[in-house]
Order: sequence, then structure tokens, then C-alpha cells
Amino acid sequence: MAERSILITGGAGFIGSHVVRRFVNRYPGYNIINFDKLTYAGNLENLRDVEKAPNYRFVHADICDAETVAHTLREHKVDGIIHLAAESHVDRSIRDPFAFARTNVLGTLTLLQEARNYWESLPEGYEGKLFYHISTDEVYGALQLDRPDGGAPYGSEFFTEETPYAPHSPYSASKASSDHFVRAFHDTYGMPVIVTNCSNNYGPYQFPEKLIPLFISNIRHGKKLPVYGEGLNVRDWLYVEDHARAIDLIFHRGRVARTYNIGGFNEWKNIDIVKALIRVTDRLLGNPEGHSLPLITYIEDRKGHDLRYAIDSSRLKEELGWEPSLQFEEGLEKTVRWYLDNPEWSDRITSGEYRDYYRRMYGDRE
Ligand code: NAD
Ligand code: DAU
Repeated sequence: MAERSILITGGAGFIGSHVVRRFVNRYPGYNIINFDKLTYAGNLENLRDVEKAPNYRFVHADICDAETVAHTLREHKVDGIIHLAAESHVDRSIRDPFAFARTNVLGTLTLLQEARNYWESLPEGYEGKLFYHISTDEVYGALQLDRPDGGAPYGSEFFTEETPYAPHSPYSASKASSDHFVRAFHDTYGMPVIVTNCSNNYGPYQFPEKLIPLFISNIRHGKKLPVYGEGLNVRDWLYVEDHARAIDLIFHRGRVARTYNIGGFNEWKNIDIVKALIRVTDRLLGNPEGHSLPLITYIEDRKGHDLRYAIDSSRLKEELGWEPSLQFEEGLEKTVRWYLDNPEWSDRITSGEYRDYYRRMYGDRE
């Protein structure tokens, strides 16, 4: 196997930790550098099982810090970048859009510029290099619910790679902007890039501010389940390891300058997800059926709440043979079991205790 040196940004976050784990375990000949600022969403506990692997390095830094980005690229002779670092929560973007512009737009631009400076300085230039940018289906805007019988799929339209961008939230506006910068670096400077746009991920290690881990934790603690509006918004859910597998495949076999949509053809109304979560969690906790249903509380809708997302990922299937491997029922059960088996993971996060783990592991070293 050819040796490679791959910088994975945001590797201490939810999806990033699954990508790092997969690459460290599957590619012992690769040097994997996890570049992460450890914001509230970054957690080195997510990577305990690989942190001592000889092909794993951690760099505690901000993607907006051009000097450290440049130094890291040169020090490790990086030839591949998989860029996941971002502010990722829509509700936070509604409260503080500037943080999203800073990391998602300026941070991505900083990475692009420093990768360009470094790679153009090499005798072989861009040969064998790749800047792979991980993005979201939210850049495409929102779809209608237009199935009169109300069954899934909930509408006749899907997001394809040709769907024009129409972001609504500050989060999706910042991701759309970063996608455009990535493509501009290909079109202007010839940088080899790939962009993928994925639907909602779920699974272990997701920060408990997002719907599924938040609600599992609340059911466990008997707390209210705050459903926005009437719970009729539709999302397309994909198990996180299926996303990591797609990223691996696309990183190695994807076509440069191409966009791939990644999704599960798995649409669910929020309220149906909440009921399914209650059913599985109550069963695994030994509660009587329907025990936690009274926790459902309808609250004021999210501002600008996109009605429906649904991804058409046929290009990825046709060109690279990728398909989701897990049925939703199976993925949900696996996910609930993981959170119930690792209650201290969510509890430590909500208490902020995990930050001490970093200090214990690395002292004050940045
Ligand atoms: P997350 O919030 O769980 O993790 C983000 C990680 O990025 C954290 O480890 C954090 O410390 C790090 N980070 C944030 N700002 C940084 C900075 N300035 N410098 C360095 N590191 C920084 O996010 P996630 O849900 O794992 O999403 C990862 C990526 O995938 C994001 O780009 C997101 O837009 C995209 N995405 C997420 C989903 C989803 O359902 N979660 C779906 C499609 C695409
Ligand atoms: O579609 C991909 C996107 O999926 C990613 O790009 C984002 O990073 C990721 O956070 C996710 O965005 P969503 O806004 O769809 O995810 P979230 O888990 O926040 O919400 C899922 C749905 O559940 C959404 O319609 C809002 C609703 N919701 C969410 C929360 C947190 C509630 O009804 N109540 C809640 O408390």
C-alpha cells in the first residue's frame, strides 16, 4: 500500500472520529493527522481506542490559524486533506452566525490557501494530492411535502448534484460559501478537489445537542422531548459508519472536481423518529410500552426551519457502487444501545468534564 500523509480536520467530532478510526485501522501505512481545535463539540474520548496507534497524530489547533496550518502541512508532508472541521449545529448558527462564517468560511479558505501554497511549492505540484471537502445537503435549500397519501418518500423531488444552491440558515449559508471556495480553487488554480454533500447522520459519539442523541439522553433522564413546530419536518437519515465508508471510497476512487451526494433514501418525519426512539429506548430500558410518550412537548418552531431534505445518491451508486449497508431500524437500535451502554459519555459532556481528560492526556501542550 502506498504511503500517504492525510490531514483530517475536525477528527475529534462526531463524523470525523469515525473517519479517523476507519483510516487509522484500515491503512496502517498511512500517516493520519487529526487537526482539531477541540471546540465544545470536539472530544478526544471519541478516539481513545486509536490514540496510541503508531500511525495517528493529534494536532490541537484552529483551521483559521494559517501559520499552524502551513507548519503542519509541511512538517507531515501532507498529500491528502479530508476537511470536516466546522461549526455544525443549525440552532447555534441562528444565535451566533459569525462563529459559522469564521470557521466554516474563513477556516476553509485558510486551509485551501495554505494547501495551495505548500503543494505549488513542491516539484511535483498537485500530482497525487487531494483536497476533499465534506459538506451537507442543507446547501440545496428545502423540498416540498407533496405526496397526497403522506407516505415516504414524502415528495416527488430529490436533491441531485445539479440542484442549484439555495441555503436558508446561517449554517447552510456558511457551508454553501465554503463549497464555492473549494470549487473556485479548482477552477482558478487547478487544485484537485472533491466535494460531497451528505444528509443527516446518526450513530455513536454525536454531540447531544442534535435530535437523536439529545432525545435518547432526555428519555433516559425522564426529561421533556422538545419537538419543533408540529414535528412534520422530514430528514433523510444515514448511519455514520456508512458515511465514513463513502468518504473512504470517494477519497480513494472519486473523480477530481466531482461532487457526490451521499444519502440513505431514508426519509422520516421528525415526530415518527421521536416515536421510534421512544419505542426502542423504553424497550431497552425495560419500561412499559409508551412509557415516555408523555415527554413529547411541542415547542415554538425553529426559525426558517427547512421542511424536507431528501438526497438522490444514485451517482455514487452508479459510479462507485456505494449503498448504505444498514436498515434504519437496525441502525437506530444500535445507536440507542450505544448511548445506553455509554451513559457516562453523554453525561460527562453535559457536565463539561471531558475537557479535563485532554489536560490529563496532553498537559498544556497545544
Ligand atoms: P461536530 O460538530 O460533531 O464536530 C466538528 C469538529 O470540528 C469538532 O471536533 C470541533 O472541535 C472541530 N472544529 C470546529 N471548529 C474548528 C476550528 N476552527 N478548527 C479546528 N477544528 C474545529 O460536527 P459533525 O456533525 O461531525 O460534522 C462534521 C462535518 O460534516 C461538518 O463539516 C458538517 O458540516 C458535515 N456534515 C455533518 C452532517 C451531520 O449530520 N452531522 C451531515 C452532513 C455533513
Ligand atoms: O442535513 C444534514 C445536516 O443535519 C448537517 O449538515 C448538520 O450539521 C446536522 O446538525 C443536521 O442538521 P439538522 O438541523 O437537520 O439536525 P438536528 O439534529 O439539529 O435536527 C433534526 C430535526 O429535528 C430538525 O428538523 C429539527 C428537529 N429538532 C431538533 C432538535 C435539536 C427538534 O424538533 N427538536 C430539537 O430539540
